[in-house]
Amino acid sequence: MANQEDMFKKVVSHAKEYGFIFPSSEIYDGLGAVYDYGQLGTELKNNIKQYWWKAMVQMHENIVGIDSAIFMHPRIWKASGHVDAFNDPLIDNKDSKKRYRSDVLIEDHIAKIEEKIEKECEKAHKRFGDAFDRQQFVTTNARVLEHQKQIDEIHAKYAELMNANDLAGLKQLILDLGIVCPVSGTRNWTDVRQFNLMFATKMGSVIDDSDTLYLRPETAQGIFVNFLNVQKSGRMKIPFGIAQIGKAFRNEIVARQFIFRMREFEQMEMQFFVRPGTELEWFKHWKEERLQWHLSLGIPAENYRYHDHEKLAHYANAATDIEFKFPFGFKELEGIHSRTDFDLSRHSEFSGKKLQYFDSELNESYTPYVIETSIGVDRTFLAIFSHGLKDETLEDGSVRTVLSLPRKLAPYKAAVLPLVKKDGLPEKAREIQHLLMPDMMVQYDEKDAIGRRYRRQDAIGTPFCITVDNDTLSDNAVTVRDRDTMKQERISIEQLPTFLKSNL
Ligand code: GAP
Repeated sequence: MANQEDMFKKVVSHAKEYGFIFPSSEIYDGLGAVYDYGQLGTELKNNIKQYWWKAMVQMHENIVGIDSAIFMHPRIWKASGHVDAFNDPLIDNKDSKKRYRSDVLIEDHIAKIEEKIEKECEKAHKRFGDAFDRQQFVTTNARVLEHQKQIDEIHAKYAELMNANDLAGLKQLILDLGIVCPVSGTRNWTDVRQFNLMFATKMGSVIDDSDTLYLRPETAQGIFVNFLNVQKSGRMKIPFGIAQIGKAFRNEIVARQFIFRMREFEQMEMQFFVRPGTELEWFKHWKEERLQWHLSLGIPAENYRYHDHEKLAHYANAATDIEFKFPFGFKELEGIHSRTDFDLSRHSEFSGKKLQYFDSELNESYTPYVIETSIGVDRTFLAIFSHGLKDETLEDGSVRTVLSLPRKLAPYKAAVLPLVKKDGLPEKAREIQHLLMPDMMVQYDEKDAIGRRYRRQDAIGTPFCITVDNDTLSDNAVTVRDRDTMKQERISIEQLPTFLKSNL
């Protein structure tokens, strides 16, 4: 594919064409940064959620899952700090009248410098061929070092300004870096202002301030306010975790990049409650375990990296992001935070209820410390989908589009295809479809030549195509084609369920 932008356009159009993701309310011209999942997207999304739930809840005896309401008492958001501090620093360009997040403008500027480093590496790779040692090159090449120094200085300055909430300084940094509006191309910027990201709504029929509710901007607070309920009813002993998957809402101003930044999205979060003083050990543990979860999907490790936070929120004593190489560069996929006892203490203070734990081993009560792992379902979807989508040139020179999704997450696990629409082959194929249906999602397709049907399945990521031919009627065997290798092998129908299960 020509470049990152073309590749990204292809991701968006492929997702729509094959029923993965549609713009929401499309027949009414859509709604900004809101998307609907179609018939295949819903399957993939459900599989992602199940895979996470299994790894986090089913495989940990000390983690349980809940499903709290989206509407919560408004004081929760006061206690959590969201009413006062869940803001984005925004800046407008006076010529284009476009509004930007100032941190995104700076991030994009840094991404351009990172691209320059990449170009240097590519040039050197071409020059040195197989002898090219990237690690050595980036730590010794003068031009790369100069670019890296610039990046480090911008990061440090940005962190300093954000920590001091210095909005005038932020504007000055944007001016000093010579950042121009991508639309007007000018540097005619307004001052930077803070903008709250929560959606407000009303409950009941009386319109006054006390009825203002917020759509939750994260699922985490539903876990904190249920800490005692779960701990007591489940007789949970520290360390233990509470997990939750659910919708969250943010009035993102710069909502772009498809499902990367949406106004309505889904999170998979887990709060892990530990003894005070052990939180940094647990932070390290979860940082490693969560990266292993990502790697277990089979996407090569070079697509992931940690980004340790320089600017820590006032309640955190350690924070890192797991970033993924999206078509538009490395960006946050998951956040892992050591949140101290901030949330439970604040809810104790605001609710008047003591949210503590009696540790029978220590014979004392304390407010547990918390490690949070928080990952977006939609961003995981985008990571898997964009990484899997490829145009492959085959030996005969033809090109096939294949969606190499992790097999266990693919919407359909197999497609059953009668070679022709006669001679009893469709009936046999239907039999096989019904044999497999109780265990997995299976598609039946008899339309068009077999080659075209293979391509259709490749494009939606189906790992196996099962072809029923005339021999099937006598030898009771089928040809199974592998999506990635395109190799075909003959398997008896009797062994088919076991073969598929062991290869998924
Ligand atoms: N409770 C912590 C929390 O919400 P966050 O970094 O704001 O932390 C966690 O969000 C994850 O949720 C992110 O890593 C990202 O995957 C996802 N996420 C956040 N905002 C999003 C948005 N507007 N659209 C899609 N996913 C989003």
